[in-house]
Amino acid sequence: MNLLDDAVSRLERWQFLDAIAEPVRKATHAVVKPRLIRNLLSGIPTGHPLHPVLTDIPIGAWTMASLLDLRGGKASEPAADLLVAAGLLAAVPTAAAGLNDWSDTFGPTGRIGLVHAGLNSAALGLYTASLVARRTGRRGAGCGLALAGLGILTASGYLGGHLSYSKGVKVSHTAYHEGPTDWQDAIAESELDGGEPQLVNLDDIPLLVMRDGGQIVALDNVCTHAGGPLNEGTFEDGCVTCPWHGSKFRLTDGAPVYGPAAAPQPSYETRVQDGRVQVRARV
Ligand code: FES
Repeated sequence: MNLLDDAVSRLERWQFLDAIAEPVRKATHAVVKPRLIRNLLSGIPTGHPLHPVLTDIPIGAWTMASLLDLRGGKASEPAADLLVAAGLLAAVPTAAAGLNDWSDTFGPTGRIGLVHAGLNSAALGLYTASLVARRTGRRGAGCGLALAGLGILTASGYLGGHLSYSKGVKVSHTAYHEGPTDWQDAIAESELDGGEPQLVNLDDIPLLVMRDGGQIVALDNVCTHAGGPLNEGTFEDGCVTCPWHGSKFRLTDGAPVYGPAAAPQPSYETRVQDGRVQVRARV
């Protein structure tokens, strides 16, 4: 284990952070509950999480601002100041999307997310102070505050990478579920008569198969958001709601209709042959 891994592992064990996280999580859930806000911040319109895309703007703007500061010279001062201000503006929706993503994490992952948010808030404070210093003629202080902010932002970015690539936050949990491209036998049609969702294993992929109205539907049973078991969810209005964090997917095609899931649930074509339901991946 290298030094950075060791440091992150220590942060993951800071259980005292849970007492801070819980009220923040509750407040965030209350604010993001309306469908429009939840879906937008979760990334449903784009099919990908919003937060990682937005982070490029403040990180890029603030990095360029410090480069211009280090280059020096009167000519580059207005551009550097503009970049600091632009980064501050972009940080607001970036933080909102990140808070939405974090609010569905728990335990060690939630603790790292909280430290990530704390560092970002500190960086935001430093850049705000930097802008004020620049506007009040204290350019040296403004440049120094921006550099300090960039250092904190770098540490925070490392934790953000850890959350995505090591902890799989907002990574589709069906990313490697390709499913059969040829028709495969799944279940006897008669087993669907009760209307209950049935769990079927197909090439090690758990599928949820059921009747929805007159149609037989089949979805990957592993929620794309964080792996929740959809067959244990609730079924209503042609949709299934995941029991873990409330993502809602349309049964006919797996489209997400309510976050936090951004990726659609893989759905399968179905047909009946000799009383048996067969499925295959949509091509
Ligand atoms: S696992 Fe989070 S909503 Fe399904």
